[in-house]
Amino acid sequence: MATEQRLICASDALVNAGKGVRFDVQWRGQTVPAFVVRFADEVHAYLNRCSHVAMELDWQPGVFFDADGIDLICSTHGALFAAQTGRCVGGPCAGGPLVKLDVVERDGAVFLKEDQHV
Ligand code: FES
Repeated sequence: MATEQRLICASDALVNAGKGVRFDVQWRGQTVPAFVVRFADEVHAYLNRCSHVAMELDWQPGVFFDADGIDLICSTHGALFAAQTGRCVGGPCAGGPLVKLDVVERDGAVFLKEDQHV
């Protein structure tokens, strides 16, 4: 059976280390915020939830990268996460990664693989 996929955004809505696109996802029976960004020409999506305290990362909506455009940053207390893996690389996340979501890019758009989050 084919995996169902949900359209998140057009590919050109995401530029390398630029603003992300926020969306909601079903996660363990709840609707929770998530986001997708582009880094090194690839798209990466995560739950919008810091591993330190369950707060959304972006204080300004869609701003997920640090000033250098290398790591994702939680704007509340400054935890840093590798953009390609969600691994904690500094700050109060203390080793806890972001929850990574499965997304694919094809035909000029980015899709979430929907059946992964039950
Ligand atoms: S809530 Fe994210 S670093 Fe503190």
